[in-house]
Amino acid sequence: MAVEKERRDFLGMALGGFTALGAVAALGAAKRTWDPLPSVKAAGFTTIDLTEMQPNQLAVEKWRGKPIFVLKKTKDMKEDPRDVVVGSDRYFVAIGLCTHLGCIPAYYPDKLKFICACHGGQFDTSGRVLKTPPPSPLVIPPFKIEGTKIVLGEEGPEYKEMKSKNLIA
Ligand code: FES
Repeated sequence: MAVEKERRDFLGMALGGFTALGAVAALGAAKRTWDPLPSVKAAGFTTIDLTEMQPNQLAVEKWRGKPIFVLKKTKDMKEDPRDVVVGSDRYFVAIGLCTHLGCIPAYYPDKLKFICACHGGQFDTSGRVLKTPPPSPLVIPPFKIEGTKIVLGEEGPEYKEMKSKNLIA
């Protein structure tokens, strides 16, 4: 009887172990899906490699617990002084929280706009308000350009210039 119970305990533990391993593997796969761009996170900084970005495909990164939108603009998209220029490419980079009450707007590549499901606010591909209630554009996080990478959390010269022109939000 005791032997049978021990056997059951052992099988239970073994099965539990396999289940835990499966859960970890599934979490790993999900994490890879959430991380669309190669990025390195360290001590409040997130470094994003922009080389793999496709035009008009939104990437969502994370910086200090906030979602960060990175959108490589197509050549047809309107230029904006809020564009982050890296080489010959232009990017829209912003904290992905609606400036009304903080919901996360969704990007519609076919409509070239962000729509906030909470109260219907809309933003263009430069984060500027197309439709209220959001009172101001999506906020550009502090950034620094390093070659083909963008470092979030550090104020580079491009960010400082935008800030001096009141373009951040
Ligand atoms: Fe986005 Fe209200 S939170 S429109």
